Amino acid sequence: MSGKLASEYPSWKKLQSIYDNERASLVLKDLFAADPERFSKFSSEYKSTYGPETTFLLDYSKNLITAPILETLLSLAKEAGVEDVRDKMFAGEHINTSEDRAVLHVALRNFDDFKIQEEGASEVSAVLEHIKTFTEAVRSGEWKGYTGKTINTIVNIGIGGSDLGPVMVTEALKAYSKRDLTAHFVSNIDGTHIAETLRACDPETTLFIIASKTFTTQETITNAESAKSWFLKAAKEDAHVAKHFVALSTNTKAVTAFGISADNMFQFWDWVGGRYSLWSAIGLSIALVIGFDNFQQLLQGAHGMDKHFRETPLEKNLPVLLALVGIWYNDFYGSQTHALLPYDQYLHKFADYFQQGDMESNGKFVTKGGQRVDYQTGPIIWGAAGTNGQHSFYQLVHQGTKLIPCDFIAPATSLNPLGIHHRILLSNYFAQPEALAFGKTEEQVKQEVGPNASEALIKSKVFEGNRPSNSIMFPVMTPSTLGALIALYEHKIFTQGVIWGINSFDQMGVELGKILAKNILAQLEKPDDVKGHDSSTTGLIHYYQKYRKE
Ligand code: F6P
Repeated sequence: MSGKLASEYPSWKKLQSIYDNERASLVLKDLFAADPERFSKFSSEYKSTYGPETTFLLDYSKNLITAPILETLLSLAKEAGVEDVRDKMFAGEHINTSEDRAVLHVALRNFDDFKIQEEGASEVSAVLEHIKTFTEAVRSGEWKGYTGKTINTIVNIGIGGSDLGPVMVTEALKAYSKRDLTAHFVSNIDGTHIAETLRACDPETTLFIIASKTFTTQETITNAESAKSWFLKAAKEDAHVAKHFVALSTNTKAVTAFGISADNMFQFWDWVGGRYSLWSAIGLSIALVIGFDNFQQLLQGAHGMDKHFRETPLEKNLPVLLALVGIWYNDFYGSQTHALLPYDQYLHKFADYFQQGDMESNGKFVTKGGQRVDYQTGPIIWGAAGTNGQHSFYQLVHQGTKLIPCDFIAPATSLNPLGIHHRILLSNYFAQPEALAFGKTEEQVKQEVGPNASEALIKSKVFEGNRPSNSIMFPVMTPSTLGALIALYEHKIFTQGVIWGINSFDQMGVELGKILAKNILAQLEKPDDVKGHDSSTTGLIHYYQKYRKE
């Protein structure tokens, strides 16, 4: 890490000049026509060297890059010290400088492979063992509720990283789930979320998992208190809480103060960032839903990608390549967003998950050294499962005025083979990047619509093309494939953060709103209490006070 702004690196300046001078010649149609080998040059098949056989294809040939551009991007990664910071992360150095913490989610899926020295790292396997014993007891029916009934419902109460990972993974791996165990996820402080969830639960057969790294998050603790009151209304005695509430946290004191015994607590450590915590005890709900063996394979898949990221030269390193083409658009083409478009219904929460993963990591305007950046950092991440998106926002992606780099992700084989469904799905998965890249010219439109069509109609049917995308395809969704894909994106985000010189591991930007809300909460009772705000905020609070009924 040089302490420089990214824009000061020689390669950054060179990329700017390439963009300024050669942009007009970066036309996908021409690049493909000029080089029949383009696909094989700009694609790579990942094969894990650890755990269950795990593979996927990354095709990055439909990007506005040439070999020299990629070389310059790779030089940028070198100048920014990506390899050095990566090695520091794996070595447990405190690369989360603002919080003086190591960043060691990789230690949660390490299986004693890399030697990692950090307090707590040697306890990972004991916590995994605890997760194993507990999930097996619940799934086998050996763990009983307070009236002796088997648990058939779990409710994970958590928010942000203590919710999004479990939600996304349990959806993605639903095909591997225990179908007679229903999982709910409550995150929002809006009472509707917990109230509607509890309507579907029976206190005798429900297990509440209170997931919070800090165990101080207002939403989670308030929802957990409401769940406990609801439970005790039926169960009456505090002693029964032990059979129905467990905690996933780093804060033993707060967990026991809440009324959950330390025996029912699954530990993790401050070097696990919230948005990187699904691999830790926070994954308990995942292990309950898909079983411990599958959870372990998820971790092994991620570890395989960790090895790839750590051991592969930059020019063949898939997370690095994804990061670099992302930087090309984000910082030189001025793209504001990046779309994640899985053609797999099971991955319908993938973009939601990486909204936090990417935007909470790289949504920063100040470098680690405290300098204001003079370039763009993290993109806005969004997306939806194909083909639904095609019938809503793809119009803008194809013909809008914005350049939106997209990642298309799909399995070759469906876990739900049903007639012609998967072929139709995949025909769309193949067609969309093709349409984006190659478009449709005015000439082609004219031939289609005939000589009598108006100029306006012809223009409206033109697809300019030259819109970039990556395509990722894997044989079939498995726990280890998902683990590898998540880790792929985690390391992409890491690489971009290093190049931009920011700390991808704190989240100072969520604090101010929390503090203001606390202050406002204390003023909501009476109009006279509302003090110290601008006229807009005061007016809004007064309007609420006029109409509230509670
Ligand atoms: O949104 C801020 C944040 O700290 C996230 O980083 C985190 O995932 C979430 O809140 C929940 O935190 P906790 O697990 O401590 O309840």
